[in-house]
Amino acid sequence: MPQSPKLIIYDLDGVITDTAEFHFLAWKKLADELGIPIDRHFNEQLKGISRMDSLDRILEQASPPMKLSTEEKIELATRKNAYYLELIEEISPEHILPGIKALLQANKEAGIKTAIGSASKNAPRILEKLGLGDTFDHIVDAAEVKKGKPDPETFTAAADALGIAYTDCIGIEDAVAGVEAINRAGMFSVGVGDKAHLSHADYLVSATNELVFEEIIRRFQEKQNLS
Ligand code: BG6
Ligand code: MG
Repeated sequence: MPQSPKLIIYDLDGVITDTAEFHFLAWKKLADELGIPIDRHFNEQLKGISRMDSLDRILEQASPPMKLSTEEKIELATRKNAYYLELIEEISPEHILPGIKALLQANKEAGIKTAIGSASKNAPRILEKLGLGDTFDHIVDAAEVKKGKPDPETFTAAADALGIAYTDCIGIEDAVAGVEAINRAGMFSVGVGDKAHLSHADYLVSATNELVFEEIIRRFQEKQNLS
């Protein structure tokens, strides 16, 4: 009998809802103010990365790289977050990405636990706005995680909190750093996005509407049988 997974850990920004775009727009506004050029290609490496680490990577893009004090960096990160909060003001249940509601429903009907593994300190607020505040068995609080993605801690913390072995977990991610974190946790990784960035995922789909529960389980079991 093929083993079923016991937990599916969902990234939030870019998987459950399209806030990845709002993060980019908010960083772009800040970077423009600082005269630092950033584009969508560069933004791929910011996905899944904490607020402060993202700022550091943007400051390194300046020529010469900008060296700022902690206080100055906190001011800039706070400014970016204010831009971001403005953009997410209008988020409602309609902003859940295509296919996600059906996936969550099938996940729950199969008796498999669910968690959020997000790097965002805004995750609880966004889940509330989406009407998903009570949906997940566990939410990894970004503030509690010592090492952000690509370190596996975000994903292992979710499994540990629910007492589930890492090999019984699936993680779903749209970020390069996120897929790496899932792989390093020893979990089955599902990537959502472009092959150019996410070829290291165990199973890759190009958009959330292609996330079909039965197929994800089938791919998970296929890999288990091979190992
Ligand atoms: C991740 C996003 O989910 O959260 C990153 O992919 C973002 O782009 C990070 O920087 C931190 O988010 P926040 O909301 O705490 O600034
Ligand atoms: Mg993401």
